[in-house]
Amino acid sequence: MIPQPVNLAAAFATFDEVYAPRVAAELNGQMVKLAKIQGRFVMHSHPNEDELFLVQRGELLMHFEDGPTRTIREGELIVVPRGVRHCPDAQEECWILLFEPASTLNTGDEGGERTRDAVPLTADTGAGL
Ligand code: NI
Repeated sequence: MIPQPVNLAAAFATFDEVYAPRVAAELNGQMVKLAKIQGRFVMHSHPNEDELFLVQRGELLMHFEDGPTRTIREGELIVVPRGVRHCPDAQEECWILLFEPASTLNTGDEGGERTRDAVPLTADTGAGL
């Protein structure tokens, strides 16, 4: 199968909900997810999975239970190692790309009402249809 490119701008344009990840691509048991975030999420960790956040638009604040808050700007990425408690936050709407195993839950070991399954992109963006 010959793959198609994914247009990230078009993909982000297909949804507005925050903290509701979309699956843009899959490879090697890992998923590339897109999410819009605004406001503070919940502090959590992923016992078995490292988690990559790449900022596509805006500014991501990553709070850590055991350390300083990091600011990740457009074009920057951060990898949160497994087991490290973290809490994404953004003062203004921020668009992020996540790279993590398919099994990773957004709320990690915390669970609760903000848990969301990542759902496929629905519009014709070339990805995950
Ligand atoms: Ni996480």
